[in-house]
Amino acid sequence: MLEIKNLHAAYGRLAALKGVDIHVPAGSIVFVVGPNGAGKSTLLKSIAGVVKPAEGSIDFEGVRINGRPPERLCRDGLVLVPEGRHIFGTLTVEENLKLAMSARKNKAEAATDLAQALDAFPILRERYQGAAGYLSGGEQQQLAIARAMLLRPRLLMIDEPSLGLAPLVIDQVYDKLRMLNASGMTLLVVEQSTARVMDLATHVYVLRNGKVALDCEARQIGDGRALENAYFGYETTAEAEAA
Ligand SMILES: Nc1ncnc2c1ncn2[C@@H]1O[C@H](COP(=O)(O)OP(=O)(O)O)[C@@H](O)[C@H]1O
Ligand SMILES: [Mg+2]
Repeated sequence: MLEIKNLHAAYGRLAALKGVDIHVPAGSIVFVVGPNGAGKSTLLKSIAGVVKPAEGSIDFEGVRINGRPPERLCRDGLVLVPEGRHIFGTLTVEENLKLAMSARKNKAEAATDLAQALDAFPILRERYQGAAGYLSGGEQQQLAIARAMLLRPRLLMIDEPSLGLAPLVIDQVYDKLRMLNASGMTLLVVEQSTARVMDLATHVYVLRNGKVALDCEARQIGDGRALENAYFGYETTAEAEAA
């Protein structure tokens, strides 16, 4: 579905992505994990058209999409839930959701999608008339994801959904991601921690210093040691293991 090859991106002279290859098959949940500053957000922003790649290619369903403006990419079904969620705290839950729907032409269809999003996140129905700023962190994350759903994503990208959440709340958010994936949505999720990716991911990439340090399918993760080694940048060649 999404095929990224040799992607480079820079902020002025600072290279943030240095030749990244990533493949997201339709129906999968792909995780990109890596320490702070690895280039994870830059990767998602490049896909979403917010950052212009300096080099490389991004193909979505066989079509080259580099250089398309963000609004166009959003309409094409590439939807990003940014780091920090970016919901409007002084607006109600309802207003946050309806803002996302305002560009939809088919109002009946949009209303159906809204009902579906509220079914998926029942807590939002309970808090519907309340200011979004009063929601807990986990509820705000659910609002951000529900809002993204109203844009009809074919590929939903989420930047650090667990950021600032308590472990139990992370479980809840991850359960929602699992449910969305089970209903057919393809997900590309970025996280700083490797801790929870194993039971959810179909594929994991470790990003370090703007490069892919490890690329493995979920069933290859095993006890997660290779994942952690790549994350922290330890040398783990077969020779080193044997020595
Ligand atoms: N707007 C920006 N201007 C300049 N440098 C940036 C900007 N955003 C990110 N960077 C730098 O690019 C690198 C990658 O950042 P980022 O993609 O945010 O990493 P991550 O999301 O993995 O923490 C870091 O060195 C960061 O300081
Ligand atoms: Mg980031």
